[in-house]
Amino acid sequence: MTTPPRVAVDDRVPAPAGSVLAIRGGRPLRGRVDVKGAKNLATKAMVATLLGETASTLRDVPDLSDVAVVRSLLEVHGVTVTEGDEPGSLVLDPSEVESAHYEEIDAHAGASRIPILFCGPLLHRLGQAFIPDLGGCRIGDRPIDFHLDALRKFGAVVEKQPSGIRLSAPNGLKGANIHLPYPSVGATEQVLLTAVRAQGVTELRNAAIEPEIMDLIAVLQKMGAIISYEPNRVILIEGVETLRGYDHRAIFDRNEAASWACAALATDGEIFVAGAKQQEMLTFLNVFRKAGGWFDVQEDGILFRREGELKPVIVETDVHPGFMTDWQQPLIVALTQAKGRSIVHETVYENRFGFTQALVKMGADIEVYPHGLQDGPRRVPRRELEQAAVITGPTPLHAADIVVPDLRGGYSHVIAALAAEGESQVSGVDILSRGYEKFLDKLSALGADFDVVR
Ligand code: EPZ
Repeated sequence: MTTPPRVAVDDRVPAPAGSVLAIRGGRPLRGRVDVKGAKNLATKAMVATLLGETASTLRDVPDLSDVAVVRSLLEVHGVTVTEGDEPGSLVLDPSEVESAHYEEIDAHAGASRIPILFCGPLLHRLGQAFIPDLGGCRIGDRPIDFHLDALRKFGAVVEKQPSGIRLSAPNGLKGANIHLPYPSVGATEQVLLTAVRAQGVTELRNAAIEPEIMDLIAVLQKMGAIISYEPNRVILIEGVETLRGYDHRAIFDRNEAASWACAALATDGEIFVAGAKQQEMLTFLNVFRKAGGWFDVQEDGILFRREGELKPVIVETDVHPGFMTDWQQPLIVALTQAKGRSIVHETVYENRFGFTQALVKMGADIEVYPHGLQDGPRRVPRRELEQAAVITGPTPLHAADIVVPDLRGGYSHVIAALAAEGESQVSGVDILSRGYEKFLDKLSALGADFDVVR
């Protein structure tokens, strides 16, 4: 599988603007940031528009590169995308959906993981689909076997080709009984986006129930779908013949909100995250508090800061309602300043501690156990791919020259540089535009001291 082009720290290769920052740390971040719609909902709600007969309006769409990739892939399939009646809203009109040329689709190869979700909607609309090679962060193997197995159960014929996947549905798509081996977010979305217009009833067991999935269900219900959520991760979908467009405001980005909360903790600052809501962040807020954080839930957002000394915590990442895998990276930066030994068990992806090497270079004491720790009983059952990081603090962080590895790891590097004494050079920061809207503007607004080197 190909991955997005990386920024080389090499003068011969022109780096995209804003990709290399000189960051002078040791100054607390203080102020307000606005968090808009979640990347991990907005992109999927955009794909859902393919299923409707009429135009949809999506509100609070973040200005991110993943959104741009999905918009472009929709446009090559004939969806007309225009600005809506308020800033950040998009109107997506699918009335002229058509097959796209191979070259136009292939131009999106390696840019994002969302294109895999085009399968069901395109099969319903066109009877066939071609999906380019996927991109996304390099945090593990990230297979798509659950997706393809589910599509075959609906009656799709899946043909793997050297540059992507070709699908057809010679006999249409029919409701199916599907039991996911793991509550995968993407595979659950795949099933939802396919089942809503498949003939008959689909029963999905062991489904992911992340708030972004519940918001996608809300979008699909607005379109005319019949979906019920049963106890124990069971979702029932009664297929309908036609769906219409929707008008929907995307759920807030709780990953971005948690990232800024950890930035306040790590830099001993105070950040008001406008748009953050408590319900979707309950698990994060518990850990934040146990680690020595203080927060105040307000009408229009949440205020985050430290309360005294930081304290060590033991965390296991998990599917919702557990502690999200996307939250551990910025939290670990803060834990380097906690007095004592913290342990983070990563149970979702098999390669999500690579970013800690840069923190060690900056003075952190972090030991990674690639096969996990065989320690006492745990809330989350051990998985084959599990790893653990043991963080011992407090250790002062000092400046270093570092290259960011992926979206969430990259964010944690920037925060570490802001917490460290001295001037760090952080390269590859443009990758953050995949998940953090107006990232550099927000850093400036919070009083960060940095220059864009190139
Ligand atoms: C989504 O990825 C998010 N991405 C991720 O956020 C997030 O970390 C992840 O869910 C978990 O919450 C988007 O929504 C675009 P999964 P997804 O399918 O759907 C294995 C970020 O930084 N698996 O729930 O790709 C997989 O390898 C990103 O915003 C299979 O084995 O995640 C992993 O171990 C990074 N076969 C586990 O399941 C499959 O067919 C969970 O993956 C599919 C998944």
